[in-house]
Amino acid sequence: MKKIVISLGGSVLVPSLESNNISRYVSVLKKIAGEFRIFIVVGGGGEARRYIRVARDLGAGEAAADELGIMVTRLNARLLIAGLGDAAYPRVAENYTEAREFAETGKIVVMGGITPAQTTDAVSAVLAESVGADLLINATSVNGIYSADPKKDAGAVKHERLTPQELLDIITGSRMNAGANTVLDIVAGKVIERSGIPLLVLDGRDPENLYRAIMEGTYAGTVVSKESSNPLLP
Ligand code: UTP
Repeated sequence: MKKIVISLGGSVLVPSLESNNISRYVSVLKKIAGEFRIFIVVGGGGEARRYIRVARDLGAGEAAADELGIMVTRLNARLLIAGLGDAAYPRVAENYTEAREFAETGKIVVMGGITPAQTTDAVSAVLAESVGADLLINATSVNGIYSADPKKDAGAVKHERLTPQELLDIITGSRMNAGANTVLDIVAGKVIERSGIPLLVLDGRDPENLYRAIMEGTYAGTVVSKESSNPLLP
């Protein structure tokens, strides 16, 4: 079975804390898990940002604020596990070794953040490398990687395809517009570059986009890969 790591932004999985947001993802993920070995990394979303802001207001340092963010990502991961029931391993993996161990059961493995000074983008990239994933998918609130922030700049153009080096250049700002929409963090960019694992960035606000991309090979996002071929086709 091919392995796919899916990075699910918190704002995508729980745009608001309501069960229907999670259950619509659960049904899609269960279907995908029938065909692929899947690993899901859940982000913190608005809840993490709120906790981090309050912690900073209270004088907490950045690392302490990050720890709170990690706790929220794990809380969201727990909710997803609750929704997936028997289809998921019952614990949130807290490191990459655990994730590999949990995967031995054949169940869906769910994890959140790991360590301060990064985001779950980095976790998903390292996890993909660690388990030898065939594909990494970043399901976010934008339908791809743009030349500028599409929410702020009407002239922003979507990249259909990028090489890992081009992605890294965009992230580090050494090419294209300085400060252009950095959809991924720097650790993620570096790991994607060194591992060569293809990345697909798509709009995850509708879980059907994830289903169509994985099960039918049709998507409207950005592909980051060394080869120009569609990474989803066998
Ligand atoms: P997210 O990965 O959700 O970050 O983690 P984000 O950038 O807010 O979300 P997206 O990518 O835009 O959807 C939430 C917070 O948790 C901490 C960071 O503070 C992060 O901002 N975190 C997360 C870590 O410190 N380490 C991790 O491994 C993961």
